[in-house]
Amino acid sequence: MQRWTLDINSPDWQSDPEAEAVCAALLTGELVAVPTETVYGLAADATNPTACARIFAAKGRPQFNPLISHVPTLEGAREHGRFDDRALALADAFWPGPLTLVVPKRTSSAICDLATAGLETVALRVPDGAVMRFLSARTGRPLAAPSANRSGRISPTRAADVISDLGEALSFVIDAGPCAVGIESTIVGLTDATPRLLRPGGIAREDIEKVLGTDLKSPAADAQPDAPAAPGMLLSHYAPNARLLLNAQQAAPEDGLLSFGPSPLPGAQQARVEVNLSASGDLTEAAANLFQAMRNLDSSGADTIRVQFIPSYGLGEAINDRLRRAAAPRD
Ligand code: TXA
Ligand code: MG
Repeated sequence: MQRWTLDINSPDWQSDPEAEAVCAALLTGELVAVPTETVYGLAADATNPTACARIFAAKGRPQFNPLISHVPTLEGAREHGRFDDRALALADAFWPGPLTLVVPKRTSSAICDLATAGLETVALRVPDGAVMRFLSARTGRPLAAPSANRSGRISPTRAADVISDLGEALSFVIDAGPCAVGIESTIVGLTDATPRLLRPGGIAREDIEKVLGTDLKSPAADAQPDAPAAPGMLLSHYAPNARLLLNAQQAAPEDGLLSFGPSPLPGAQQARVEVNLSASGDLTEAAANLFQAMRNLDSSGADTIRVQFIPSYGLGEAINDRLRRAAAPRD
């Protein structure tokens, strides 16, 4: 891990030699800790599923929560999300700043399914932190970034916090001093007629309500962003049409097959379609492929998708969590 210490008030930090190296690292799918005005973010190219899988691996997240994508401008945000008048008014009032907007995702957006956890919505933020905006503009990529702490620990507001928590997983830590706001962005959901406060944060509810001219409602019961605790919440919402059969012992000719590792199930050759998440048994590769694989199997028209056993260590825990939600009975 390298540390780039910069003085955000100096006129030419953007031409530090480290800037190029950091952009190159991001473009090859590596992880970089980047300060924003709220907290330090664990940033990666949001269009690269392997890079996003590395975020989940580094954080030790037991679930694939959707990530916030950071972009340099409102114009950049509109490439990925559909902004109605309410979203435009909030962006105009609070961007750049500690506000994240969850809006319908454009089908043309290059943000990968793993970053949005397979949802048809996307969380976008134009941060006030100049370093994050600069890196997104210079790489030409939206940058997915959760707070740069291991899951369950407190969010870091100084580079030293990041290094002690996550140092080994990073190729760079950018140290621009402590964060000014110190708590995460406020998240507002604008995916239907009712604007919702999905997470309180750096901008007060009252200030947002004033711009909207209406109250913010609580998250819908099935979309608690920080607590998709039970099947039926958030992620299973977008479960495949096909029934999932977990820990299958053998393949079947009429069924889709989601394989993992070098030893396919008996009958795998005859499966209607087979997708192997990682032939070498690499759980980070498997996570990167998971959402696309589920979509492909589902669109094969199979009524049932058989899923080979996937171990539950490392990212396997999040993969199995997602698969269990997708397999949960629905009405
Ligand atoms: O200040 C912040 O927001 C920091 C800095 C780094 O920008 N980032 C941050 O990210 O706090 P994270 O991953 O810790 O929180 C993202 C939250 C999660 O609770 C997630 O569930 C929610 O955003 N979220 C993301 N996409 C969503 C979506 N499409 N629908 C609902 N909630 C979403
Ligand atoms: Mg966090």
